[in-house]
Amino acid sequence: MFKPDKFVEEKVKELREEIKGRAIIACSGGVDSTTAAVLVHRAIGDNLLAVFVDTGFMRKGEAERIDALFSRLGLNYKIIDASEDFISALKGVTDPEEKRKIIGAKFIEVFEREAKKFGAEYLVQGTIAPDWIESGGGLRETIKSHHNVGGLPKKMNLKLVEPLRDLYKDEVRKVAEYLDLEVKERQPFPGPGLAIRILGEVTREKLDIVREANAIVEEEVEKFYPFPDRPWQYFAVLLPVRSVGVHGDKRVYGYTVAVRMVDSLDGMSAAYFKAAHELLDRIATRITREIKEVNRVVYDITNKPPATIEWE
Ligand code: XMP
Repeated sequence: MFKPDKFVEEKVKELREEIKGRAIIACSGGVDSTTAAVLVHRAIGDNLLAVFVDTGFMRKGEAERIDALFSRLGLNYKIIDASEDFISALKGVTDPEEKRKIIGAKFIEVFEREAKKFGAEYLVQGTIAPDWIESGGGLRETIKSHHNVGGLPKKMNLKLVEPLRDLYKDEVRKVAEYLDLEVKERQPFPGPGLAIRILGEVTREKLDIVREANAIVEEEVEKFYPFPDRPWQYFAVLLPVRSVGVHGDKRVYGYTVAVRMVDSLDGMSAAYFKAAHELLDRIATRITREIKEVNRVVYDITNKPPATIEWE
């Protein structure tokens, strides 16, 4: 039986011996990176800097949520609003792979700058056992290049510290609970965020639209299907397609939002979720009512394969 109290006690002791200088972690606010941050913070205190890079592609309220969480945990942390940087780096870019590469490179650039400023010698990552056991370059990697916040490059010349390396997800959750972290079950969210949920060029206007639409989907799904009877993942995608509609008695030429909900075990394959029409109705009504730029909502009924879960 895995004992979180014993694990924490031993790991903190180990970390204290291992880390002989300043350390930095890119913290997404997810369970893994936050647990790793808290463990290392217990070992070396404010010699650990937790950095949250706000790319501008985060969900509604995400930066605020993270700010509140890190502050409650007493971490030495920094939230960097790099949205201007990220959005301008994507100007004119429409190819999904190129988008991912640019976002990945930008992320590293911003993070490296902070590491230097702080004088970090160690890089903490929230890698867990399945991350490295399964990272044999599977099919997934060949289809989309995955920018993972956890996947910072070796060339950073920092010594790698991975306190959760031997744990599985359920064990990490136990540790997190023991450390009094929020371990509310959350759906997966891609590293490049909303940027890959806008087909075509990313602009501030489109980000605002998809962020709002996504928040509506999340809110309505979570209200309609109480945990754990929810789809595995549920979100909104902004299409580059415009179509004719009416708002009041005015003809409008508006955007289309695609709603995607899937069930899956691990993201490798997925079945589209047979959502209740009542729920779809509510989502469509709210999106078209609350977001004036959108006049059409469609539901994605494709499985993976042949489609992927995300649209880019
Ligand atoms: P796809 O779209 O490849 O997605 O069927 C499978 C699962 O992975 C998530 N996903 C990502 N996760 N970085 C991540 O950390 C990424 O770049 C990324 N792209 C897709 C996706 O949301 C789904 O859960």
